[in-house]
Amino acid sequence: MTVDPGFPDKTTLLQAWDALRALGAPEQGGTRAGAHDIRALFEGDPGRASRYTAVLDDLVIDFSKTSLDDAALEVLHALSRAAGLSLFRDRLFAGDVVNVTEGRAAMHMALRDGPDAALSADVAGGHLGGDREDASALASAELGRMGEFVSGVHDGRIRGATGAVFTDVLNIGIGGSDLGPLMATEALTVAHGPRLRARFLSNVDGHGFAAAIRGLDPARTLVLVASKTFTTQETATNAAAARAWLSEALGEPAVADHFVALSTNLAAVASFGIRPDRVFGFRDWVGGRFSLWSPVGLSIALAAGFDAFQAMLAGAAAMDAHFRAAPFATNLPVLLALAGIWHVDVCQYRAQCVLAYDDRLRRFPAYLQQLEMESNGKSTGLDGRRVRQLTCPVVFGEPGTNAQHSFMQLIHQGTSVVPVDFILAATPDHDRPEAHRILAAHAFAQAEALLRGRGLAEVEAEMRAKGVSEASIAAVAPHRVFDGNRPSITILSGRLDAFALGRLIALYEHKVAVQGCIWGINSFDQWGVELGKALAAGLLPDLAPGAPEGDHDHSTNALIARFRALRGED
Ligand code: F6P
Repeated sequence: MTVDPGFPDKTTLLQAWDALRALGAPEQGGTRAGAHDIRALFEGDPGRASRYTAVLDDLVIDFSKTSLDDAALEVLHALSRAAGLSLFRDRLFAGDVVNVTEGRAAMHMALRDGPDAALSADVAGGHLGGDREDASALASAELGRMGEFVSGVHDGRIRGATGAVFTDVLNIGIGGSDLGPLMATEALTVAHGPRLRARFLSNVDGHGFAAAIRGLDPARTLVLVASKTFTTQETATNAAAARAWLSEALGEPAVADHFVALSTNLAAVASFGIRPDRVFGFRDWVGGRFSLWSPVGLSIALAAGFDAFQAMLAGAAAMDAHFRAAPFATNLPVLLALAGIWHVDVCQYRAQCVLAYDDRLRRFPAYLQQLEMESNGKSTGLDGRRVRQLTCPVVFGEPGTNAQHSFMQLIHQGTSVVPVDFILAATPDHDRPEAHRILAAHAFAQAEALLRGRGLAEVEAEMRAKGVSEASIAAVAPHRVFDGNRPSITILSGRLDAFALGRLIALYEHKVAVQGCIWGINSFDQWGVELGKALAAGLLPDLAPGAPEGDHDHSTNALIARFRALRGED
């Protein structure tokens, strides 16, 4: 391969990493005692809250409740320079092959930046002088076809085989062909309900299929088979089951009117038998976890409306423009990425929690888990060597306030420090302002509690004032102490409409790309999912009744034997 990934100068990079680590506390191998005393940072700087808040229109990100200080930011920016972030960003938007191990560009921005953006993508695997294609033109043409189709379904011009209008959509897909569309569809339809009801079938577990079709009328159901590769076993199995379910009810010819494919693999789609005008394509330069902007997002448009889908694209385009042009010192994805690197590599926090105080974003953590961990859960650098620094933390989350009644105990008082991203909109899309103020009060209070903590003396005084006995105080007070100084970032926007949702998603997409660049890894491949897939294919025949013992480790062989025995098949 003739790709030049633009390796940065090794010595400068190592020096930048060393300089960064030196800013940690002695117990983390650094030199600064009290490096993570966030409360002291506030005491020493009355302007900290505003100095550590970055703004883009109505989107506000408050980084002040972290242990980042000016020295840390300076060194983090030096690290990003040493890692070649500026060149990486240029190459990303130039459609160069940034996904070097798969020989592809990562040009999902073309799906949302409109035809005038004139974005192109290298389609020759980085070979010098190779072909490029007009990504913006391709994306716009397909978006136009999607718009036509969605309006046809919505106004009843496009109907099922029996002449019934479509009322339900069943999206069959997994990973990026499920998580993004599901998350966004929920986010955009919770408040006012959907134009078409959407269900999402991802797992190959037959219970999932049973639940997905329960109560669905096949005559009124449009089935979307979303799969970038069209080779994913789970999706193929579920698509075949859905096809059998539909043909049994309406006859095999009805499949043509009820099935839609969203894929890059047009040959495989054709052999499944989906008619060409029901196929919406995209290209390899769209990664699976970045595909909700592509035809894979058709479920979003059908459920929430094409206008909402377009507004979501526009919001993401606004973030693209900001990321592409803003200086790194005020660049929101860059700052979010640097804060994450600070937490992982200096503070050595191994987990990251995301709490959206917004029920519309209840699937956002699941979506983010794939985006962050499939992208940056890697230990091999672009140079083929094992990286020396820690990379992606474990990402998890739940909607607030629900999380407060499950795992927030650990985040407040556990032995692990877990930074939290709080996400909140100032104005809800419902008419119960008091409920929203309660929700917001909890979000702000959680962040405040994490920062402030509560010392032993304060707890004891409070208990004494309530007349608690000295014996009880001695026994209970230590359990009621909160260390405080626990970091969080608050992401606040005016509303969470479709535009703001697109902007939020793109914020995290670019954060992930920036972190990948600085960690020196390829954020756009996912080789780590291959081994399990290959072994599952080899193992499947061993589960059949009477199959001889397979070539596995002793534990796996014993479990297979017990599985078969418990099924009464041996
Ligand atoms: O889990 C691996 C993966 O390749 C993801 O990256 C992808 O989103 C998912 O499988 C589904 O792939 P496809 O859309 O090709 O069915």
